[in-house]
Amino acid sequence: MHAFVRFKEITSANGPRYVAWFEPQHHIVHETAEFFVRRFTGMNWSIITPEASAHWDGETLSFGSGGKRSDVPADDARDDDWRAYYESMFNPARLKVAAMKREMPKHYWRNMPETERIPDLIKSASTRTENMVAATPSTPRKRAGAAHAKIAPEDLPARLEAIAEHEKPPASLKDLQRALQSCRACPLWRDATQAVPGEGAEEKPLLALVGEPPGDQEDLAGHPFVGPAGKVLDRALAEAGINRDELFVTNAVKHFKHEPRGKRRLHMRPNAGEVEICRWWLAHELTLVKPRLIVALGATALQSLSTYKGTLTKAREQTLKTREGATLRATVHPSYLLRLPDEAAKEAEFARFMADLKDAKQLAERIARAA
Ligand code: URA
Repeated sequence: MHAFVRFKEITSANGPRYVAWFEPQHHIVHETAEFFVRRFTGMNWSIITPEASAHWDGETLSFGSGGKRSDVPADDARDDDWRAYYESMFNPARLKVAAMKREMPKHYWRNMPETERIPDLIKSASTRTENMVAATPSTPRKRAGAAHAKIAPEDLPARLEAIAEHEKPPASLKDLQRALQSCRACPLWRDATQAVPGEGAEEKPLLALVGEPPGDQEDLAGHPFVGPAGKVLDRALAEAGINRDELFVTNAVKHFKHEPRGKRRLHMRPNAGEVEICRWWLAHELTLVKPRLIVALGATALQSLSTYKGTLTKAREQTLKTREGATLRATVHPSYLLRLPDEAAKEAEFARFMADLKDAKQLAERIARAA
């Protein structure tokens, strides 16, 4: 239901309202409604099913009786976007009809505008694949996905190609932020509320700070470093005399990766494949923002930004280059400071972290002066 609801816009007394007709196979409307509240907090919406309906007015979630398909308009201006999106994500070379039907059971197709394209796409898949094979170089990508656990290594090149082929390099950060919300290149989007893009000073800031994936609070808020690690970062920046508004703050992985533990969502480290896939977004963000200096916060960010193979401790002692050739410094992730059990160690490490940030700022100022 998270993936297969398609809203249609109607006009109501309170402005636009988005209504969807959905036919679940289980009694899941109450269970899933909270997900839609988080995902579409800013929209007024109703999801109508044969047995029950859920309604959100921006403040209150309510439930009502079921309805009929005809309660919801059959078409919407966005239906063509769904068709175009599906068509562009459809990779004929990876077509497995049985797996596709398992992922997207046919029962749901009739309420999803994009599915009307499926029969034609299947029919033309083998010709399109032959054309693709004829057009591609014969050497496979080396090492892509080597350390990957969940995404099968043999799937990674196709995923990287899909993202590069189907996502045009964004012309602006706004375009990037919009496109990022529909990224399905790795599975992390499924359990996340939203993608968390970078934010802050957008034109040649002195520094761009790059974290790991967003945490629980960032996932809900849609902004980077607003939770506990963000508080540590803010304190270190303040003590280093750096104004956060003058930086660009982002993450190497844009969706929150977690596992449920009771009512809590425990942060999980992204694997190499997820980091590699999400690099596409990070690299484009940094190309658009053009910071004077980039600071990797922690080993995941370092791994994403550079080909450096040493330890974070060693990386911290030098000035490096990103894969794209920008100047790079590395330091610890602020959550490392939160995990230290000993107060004295915490204080000493905090001072080192703060000094790293100060040092990075001074180097960035020298780079800016020389430019
Ligand atoms: N940790 C990160 O790396 N990024 C965030 O945005 C929050 C916590």
